[in-house]
Amino acid sequence: MLHCQRTFSAVSMKAPTVSSFDLDAYLGKQSRLIDEALKSHLGQFPAGSQTLFAALHYGVFPGGKRIRPILTLAAGELFGGEPKILLPFACAVEMIHAYSLIHDDLPALDNDDLRRGQPTAHRVFGEGMALLAGDGLLTEAFRIISAPELLEQLSAAKLLNALHQLSYAAGVCGLVGGQAFDLEAENRTVDIAAVELIHARKTGALMHAAVRLGAEIAGAGGEELESVCRYGENFGSAFQIADDILDAQGGTGVGKGAESGRNEKRKATYPAVAGMGESRARLRELLNRCDEALAPFGARAAGLKAIAAHVAGRTVYT
Ligand code: IPE
Ligand code: IPE
Ligand code: MG
Ligand code: MG
Repeated sequence: MLHCQRTFSAVSMKAPTVSSFDLDAYLGKQSRLIDEALKSHLGQFPAGSQTLFAALHYGVFPGGKRIRPILTLAAGELFGGEPKILLPFACAVEMIHAYSLIHDDLPALDNDDLRRGQPTAHRVFGEGMALLAGDGLLTEAFRIISAPELLEQLSAAKLLNALHQLSYAAGVCGLVGGQAFDLEAENRTVDIAAVELIHARKTGALMHAAVRLGAEIAGAGGEELESVCRYGENFGSAFQIADDILDAQGGTGVGKGAESGRNEKRKATYPAVAGMGESRARLRELLNRCDEALAPFGARAAGLKAIAAHVAGRTVYT
């Protein structure tokens, strides 16, 4: 798994308190900030293929819930980070997520026709262009967070660390590796340990990195960084189980139901391997762990706590 470094950090009191916390307003405000920043990064490419540009845009706008970049902002704000400094990292995380979905939907992987209620990118632009749009988003994500002007606000060491963390999460030990395990597990009998490993890599690694990047850019270290990273890891696993429960239930909330793979491959999901009751129990356990990880921060972690409860609310309480 991913490990947190131990360094000292100071803490500010900028995060919201539980009693005053309005999750809908918070998610709306953060999504707007993220959308504006994404537009400024991906708004126009004067040279190059306009079809590629359109395909790449299609994967990002209007987009989905923006959970990962919201986690980056929320984790950063917990340690006093300013949105302006955090946003390039939040955008990079979302662009990697968007690329991963475009590729995930391709016939060679999940072979899906619909994403967020719309035809998948390869159905609109063709497989070749969808493949390239994904490649483009992945690469642009790293361009954005390696821009020389970021050195005016952040140290080279912090930027290098962010590049390393994000590439680790996106790469062979993270998302790509998890997708490979997911592919290999298709139509096979796998145990729950294998499902947990697939989740930790294909979904958890980027969720964890989203949290970690925000926290570290804002100066978190030591036990506080470890705690918030523990939240990120548990949140990632909880998120994938919630998503799979929703898919198995046939598409309430943000689950995709009818959008699930049309070629009816048997996927290694928690409900498929352990059943619905055990999936809900595991989801509860993971969400409790999220709360425990945030306990040292008290009311300052209200945003992160509410985001995790929101994930649970999609399944555990419905
Ligand atoms: C979908 O993630 C893929 C999973 C890891 C389950 P999201 O549910 O965050 O996707 P969007 O961006 O909100 O559509
Ligand atoms: C998507 O997982 C995870 C990544 C793209 C890395 P799934 O295949 O389970 O998610 P959906 O159901 O297509 O959104
Ligand atoms: Mg998949
Ligand atoms: Mg899929």
